[in-house]
Amino acid sequence: MSKDLDNKQGNVDCKEKEYTMPRIGEKAPAFRAMTTQGEINFPEDYSGKWKILFSHPADFTPVCTTEFMTFATRQKEFEALNCQLVGLSVDGLFSHIAWLRNIQTLEYKGMKNVEVTFPLIEDIKMEVANKYGMIQPGESDTKAVRAVFFIDPANIIRTIIYYPGSMGRNFDELLRVLKGLQVSDEFGVALPADWEPGDDVIVPPAGSCGVAKKRMKGDDKDLHCHDWYLCTKKLSKEKVDKALYK
Ligand code: BEZ
Repeated sequence: MSKDLDNKQGNVDCKEKEYTMPRIGEKAPAFRAMTTQGEINFPEDYSGKWKILFSHPADFTPVCTTEFMTFATRQKEFEALNCQLVGLSVDGLFSHIAWLRNIQTLEYKGMKNVEVTFPLIEDIKMEVANKYGMIQPGESDTKAVRAVFFIDPANIIRTIIYYPGSMGRNFDELLRVLKGLQVSDEFGVALPADWEPGDDVIVPPAGSCGVAKKRMKGDDKDLHCHDWYLCTKKLSKEKVDKALYK
């Protein structure tokens, strides 16, 4: 069979598709898109704010529905942290509108009359999803995975989390990450495993032998050094809250 005929019959492998994946520390890829709240120019429209851009596999699916009810119910907690939520799936606008209207009629875990007021992007052509690496063919060629991009006020991607379709996101963790990023920026500290506001924080590691020696001598009474490279200090919940909720 000629190559042309093969091509016409769809038998020839296309040149392997390239999937771009933006990375932490890079500018958030820009796009214009239609949403359930009108057209948006992302991330420009939200410069100066934190953004959580997240994808879900499809409208009218059970896990996504529980997530949307939770996102909408907890939206005020994100807003209090100067954070705009923006959702996306590979569905059309009318499907989005119908689904969000249906969600308002549901009751789940005490959540009811839930109105989703943050923008939900229609992305039938997968243009945005492909730009952000939300289509992961091992999971699905046509549906986005559950991606979460944390984007800072200067529009830099600061954290990326991916979940498979079968796993709903943990909203306490999303809020913990958002708070952690802001605290880390504000106080110039790192945060240990399972950090929560009010827990001790990690100071930058000693950058010279002299500083390492001083730290181990215990000269700085504010520091608790487990070893020269692992020193923590107190950062009260009051101070953290004051920085987070300016
Ligand atoms: C859901 O939202 O229920 C779902 C979506 C994709 C795969 C599995 C579950």
